[in-house]
Amino acid sequence: MRDSLGGPVRGGRSCGDGGKTVRVDAGGFYQVVHHRRDVRGQFTGAAVPPDVLRRILDAAHAAPSVGLSQPWDFVLVRDVSTRSVFREHVQRERAIFAQQLTGHRATIFSKIKVEGVLESSLGIVVTYDPERGSPAVLGRHAIADAGLYSVCLAIENLWLAATAEGLGVGWVSFYREEFLRKLLEIPPRLRPVAWLCLGPIRNLPTAPDLERHGWRHRVPLEEVLHEERFGQGPERHHVDADRSRKHGSGPSVP
Ligand SMILES: Cc1cc2nc3c(=O)[nH]c(=O)nc-3n(C[C@H](O)[C@H](O)[C@H](O)COP(=O)(O)O)c2cc1C
Repeated sequence: MRDSLGGPVRGGRSCGDGGKTVRVDAGGFYQVVHHRRDVRGQFTGAAVPPDVLRRILDAAHAAPSVGLSQPWDFVLVRDVSTRSVFREHVQRERAIFAQQLTGHRATIFSKIKVEGVLESSLGIVVTYDPERGSPAVLGRHAIADAGLYSVCLAIENLWLAATAEGLGVGWVSFYREEFLRKLLEIPPRLRPVAWLCLGPIRNLPTAPDLERHGWRHRVPLEEVLHEERFGQGPERHHVDADRSRKHGSGPSVP
């Protein structure tokens, strides 16, 4: 068992099987969860120390996965020319998305930065390999997407570990999978799930960028909490009415 800094967990209790239960500072954990941000404009471009990068990748690789398939790979992209080619592609995709917007939404979107590909220290492309652990991936027979869910858990682990290390992460999804596959010579059966911008930052914003720009606001937990049946709960009536009043429709940026 390893703690958030990659060392053995201290203060754990022994379990029957010789393992340990985890007793870490829960307050610290929740701080990391709630301070994590998607970072675009705050990267300094300074190098990520190799031991820190290793701990972050170790955390990602420790994620749960369906059938213990660990269906992820991590491609580290430092080369500036590769990153520039990717960034140009992202800019083109941004323009395609912008075409569906009009009026106020278009104005807001024009002010939102959607990537920090060149400003960050490196890119980490996380891929999904549906053949890892097959045939008969335990737990995936009825839900093919469980493999993708596993990759997303690795990404979240990476994101939280980077936050705990004082670094920033920005998830970029303004790309066509085929483009990224070709650029990085990713085998055809694999899906590139994310381009993650990683690196030291000047600061972590306190609110999501999309909130700051007025694109969209986080909804309170009560709005997504149900009891026993979907749509049921003491506050549901009130919450549903509130939701339709507060949140207009329109295309949403990831
Ligand atoms: C699957 C996924 C794809 C995302 N793609 C992008 C993206 O292409 N560009 C971007 O600026 N942010 C992207 N984000 C970040 C979200 O906009 C961000 O998580 C959300 O606004 C909440 O902000 P927070 O992460 O700071 O709490 C993505 C996030 C996820 C989970």
